Amino acid sequence: MTWQKELSRIVKGNIRFNEPISRHTTWGAGGSVEVLVEPKDLSDLIRAIKFSHKNNLPLFVIGAGSNLLVSDRGVAGIVLKLSGLDFKNIKFNNNYVSVGSGLSLNRLVNLTQAKGLSGCEFLAGIPGTLGGALAMNAGIRNAFLPSCQYLSISNLVSSIKVLDSKGRLKALKREGVKFGYRSSNLSKFIIISARLKLRKGNKKDIAALIKKFVSYKRNIQDLKTRSAGCVFKNPTNTSKNGNLTAGKLIDACGLKGLRLGKAEVSRIHANFILNRGGARAEDIFKLICIVQKRVKQKFGVVLEPEVKIIGKF
Ligand code: EPU
Repeated sequence: MTWQKELSRIVKGNIRFNEPISRHTTWGAGGSVEVLVEPKDLSDLIRAIKFSHKNNLPLFVIGAGSNLLVSDRGVAGIVLKLSGLDFKNIKFNNNYVSVGSGLSLNRLVNLTQAKGLSGCEFLAGIPGTLGGALAMNAGIRNAFLPSCQYLSISNLVSSIKVLDSKGRLKALKREGVKFGYRSSNLSKFIIISARLKLRKGNKKDIAALIKKFVSYKRNIQDLKTRSAGCVFKNPTNTSKNGNLTAGKLIDACGLKGLRLGKAEVSRIHANFILNRGGARAEDIFKLICIVQKRVKQKFGVVLEPEVKIIGKF
């Protein structure tokens, strides 16, 4: 029996073979994944992880696929998507909220607002799941503060439950996790849930703050066309000028509107690469390389992709 057949016998949730990843990423580009598993619940997930470990199969988890560029050649092994209800739990306990990693950030923002809990407002409009947001330490550059400081999800974390590559459950305290700007050391784990510490607030004030963050994005970013949001991290080696963002640098190179096939540098926010309809991952990747090269030539700054690039290019 092939490993694919064996896996389909032990998994209770959805299992799909040669599944186009374009159906699971916001860019809507890329090839097929050998096997996509949507486990039914935690024990189903543990079975799939143990199976991949035993059979030495590559395994990775996707959330909302909003920061992912997967090669047109596709990827081998198992891709997990924690879309089952069991992974979308939310439980409130005073100022704390325990959230399943599959819950979308927008749901989290709305549900905490409804309970009069403040702290999640800045996550409004980020098209991710809690798990993806934790792994990437998602956040924003707060344009409403004079120092434009970054607000990141790590600031809310009290503890995180994960599974290791052998399917063993671990509880990590905030202090045991390394978070950086758009990074963490959580990618070696499968994130199950997190406990976030919020504070009591006024529902109307929370709603107003959510609106402020969302309308800022609507004004400055292209949210109507498929993309992965910001492609590059903001450079940290330009601390002399904390306002020198990747978007500004790309813009100053005159790259807005640059197009390869159906992939295009946004004319609205230069740190976005849009899929104008049927873009190939290869075109997006080449555009990323061109942008990096031009910014390096003009400013001597090496832009590091924020998006995760998977497979061979
Ligand atoms: N700007 C330009 N030209 C452009 C784009 C931006 O001059 O083409 C200028 C803007 O006018 C603004 C400044 O650059 O003065 C900064 O732009 P913005 O406020 O959009 O901030 P950013 O650093 O580009 C960051 C996050 C975004 C997040 C916004 C919200 C990173 C890499 N990006 O963008 O996150 O939505 O703050 O404030 O940290 C994402 O991660 O996918 C993402 C979109």
